[in-house]
Amino acid sequence: MQSDKVADKASREIALKTDEKKLKTLAVTLRWENRYRNEEHLTGEGAFCPELDTLDPDFSESLGLYGLESGKLLEIGAGVGMQAIGYAQLGFEVTATDVSATAINTARSNAAKQEIPAASLAFVTDNILSTTLRDTFDVVADRGCFATLKSWELEDYCRNVRRLLKDNGLFLLKANAGQYGMVKPLESLFRVEKSWDTFYHGQQTQGPPALFFILRPRLLLEQQFGGTGP
Ligand SMILES: C[S@@+](CC[C@H](N)C(=O)[O-])C[C@H]1O[C@@H](n2cnc3c(N)ncnc32)[C@H](O)[C@@H]1O
Repeated sequence: MQSDKVADKASREIALKTDEKKLKTLAVTLRWENRYRNEEHLTGEGAFCPELDTLDPDFSESLGLYGLESGKLLEIGAGVGMQAIGYAQLGFEVTATDVSATAINTARSNAAKQEIPAASLAFVTDNILSTTLRDTFDVVADRGCFATLKSWELEDYCRNVRRLLKDNGLFLLKANAGQYGMVKPLESLFRVEKSWDTFYHGQQTQGPPALFFILRPRLLLEQQFGGTGP
């Protein structure tokens, strides 16, 4: 029957798209796992500063602006965990994820050295593009993970971050300078509350230029009726 053929064709196309998506997310995992296994100093490219052992001031000052010192905080692309440790020390209940299992193992041992109680800091190997997290968070923080995304990854990233953030939550994002175009797609699901030019803070030296965004989730009605307004 004609309708069976149409249904068959549609399900084949869906299956192909699903496989393609799985392959793409697997490629992201392999790319970062390979880097963490083979590059001794990930600071080499100057893209970020994992050696920074205090909280990046753009993030700590933003939390201060809203008087936030506790609650559930998710850090996406936490790398070797130095920022996640800082959030736990501030008083947040932290879930820190990274797509690289090697990065997460290093992060766990960094947290153990600082004697951070496991109850206040959980490290999870997770790909934000196909996240398995089910909880929702008061704060989502991303320092340099968004910056590494390809344009085809943005839709999944935005949808998943929105789902993981509480309706009254705060999304703190540090992107690379010049990524305004990449941030635009976020605006259907998030409202930019504040943004400023900054840089990736390092231990001794100033890292590369960056953009910082404080975003609030748009509620469902707002998304449906003019979700790109102020
Ligand atoms: C530039 S590094 C930033 C690391 C850390 N946030 C920092 O400030 O030092 C980007 C991190 O994002 C992670 N990452 C990249 N794509 C990811 C994804 N799809 N899901 C989760 N983590 C990802 C990488 O493994 C890497 O650790």
